[in-house]
Amino acid sequence: MDLDLRSIKGIGPAMAEKLKSAGITSVAELAVIPARELSELIGISEEHAFKLTQAAREVLGLDFITAEEYYNRRSKLGHISTGCRALDELLGGGIETQAITEFVGEFGTGKTQICHQLAVMVQFPREKGGLSGRAVYIDTEGTFRPERIIQIAKYRGLDPKEALKNIFYARSYNSDHLLLLVDKVFNFAQSENVKLVIIDSLISHFRAEYLGREHLAPRQQKINMLIHKLQRMADIFNIAVVITNQVMAQPDVFFGNPSRPAGGNVVAHGATYRIWLRKAKEMRRIARIFDSPSHPEGEAVFRISDEGIVDV
Ligand SMILES: Nc1ncnc2c1ncn2[C@@H]1O[C@H](COP(=O)(O)OP(=O)(O)OP(=O)(O)O)[C@@H](O)[C@H]1O
Ligand SMILES: [Mg+2]
Repeated sequence: MDLDLRSIKGIGPAMAEKLKSAGITSVAELAVIPARELSELIGISEEHAFKLTQAAREVLGLDFITAEEYYNRRSKLGHISTGCRALDELLGGGIETQAITEFVGEFGTGKTQICHQLAVMVQFPREKGGLSGRAVYIDTEGTFRPERIIQIAKYRGLDPKEALKNIFYARSYNSDHLLLLVDKVFNFAQSENVKLVIIDSLISHFRAEYLGREHLAPRQQKINMLIHKLQRMADIFNIAVVITNQVMAQPDVFFGNPSRPAGGNVVAHGATYRIWLRKAKEMRRIARIFDSPSHPEGEAVFRISDEGIVDV
C-alpha cells in the first residue's frame, strides 16, 4: 500500500511536490492530517484541504467499511509473545495487533525491559511467537540499549545483527518531535513490514512541557491526538502498539493504591489493554491487567534476568 500521492483525485505533480515539501509524503499521512493544519501548511483554503484529506481517507478505506470487511480485518489480528509464558497467558496469547497495550508502573518495574524484549520477539515467525515483522522503537528517555537487544536475541537463538537491523530506532526530544516521528512511521510501516511500534514512554515529554493546571487541557488534547494516530496506525497496518506510562502519586488517597497512571482519562480510554507492573522480591515483577472488561482479573509473575523477561 505504498501509494503515491498522485493516485489521489485532485493531486497533480505540482500539488504532490507542494505536499512533499511540507513533509507529507504518503497517502496515509495526508489521510490523518487535520484539514485546518493542512490549509495552513501549504496555503490552500480549508475547504480544499478537506477535499484532499477526504480523498486520501477514501483511498485508504478509512471511512465506512462493511461489517464483512471489518470482520476480515479482525480475523488478521495477530499476537506477539512476550517470551514469558505467564505474561502471555495473562494477556490472552501475547501483545495484540490493532490494539494499544500500555505498561504502567514505577521506575525499575521493567517497562523498558519488556519493550526491548518485544522488539526482538516480533521478529520470530508465527510458530515461534512472532509476526515475522520489524519493530519501531521511539525512545523519549534515552534508555534504549542495542546491547540489550543483542543479549536477548542471542539467548533466543536469533542472529543479533539481524535483530538489530529489524529495529528502527528514533530518539524523540519533545512532544512535537514525537508526533512528527509517529507521522513518519505511516510512511514506511507497510513497505518495511513493521508489526510493532513502541513508545517508551508516551507521557514523559508531556509531563515535562505542560506544567501546571492551566496547561492541562492543551496537554490532554495533544496526548489524545497522539493516541488516536497510534490507534489508526494499528488498525490500518495491522500493527501492535506498545506504550509505557508512569505512575503519579495521589496525595489525597489514604486507603488502597496511593498511585495512579499518568495521562488521565485520555490514556485510560485510548489504551486497549492496560497492564500494571509492580516489584516483588529477587528481581521478580508482578503484572496485573486493570481497567479491562474482557480480561479476567489475574496476575502473572515474571523475572528480569540477563536473558530478558523470563518465567520464574
Ligand atoms: N541485563 C540485565 N540483566 C538483569 N537485569 C537487568 C538488566 N538490565 C536491566 N535490568 C533490570 O531491569 C530493571 C529496570 O527495568 P526498566 O528499566 O525496564 O524499568 P522501567 O519500568 O522502564 O523504569 P523507568 O520508569 O525508570 O523507565 C532494573 O531492576 C535492572 O536491574
Ligand atoms: Mg524505562
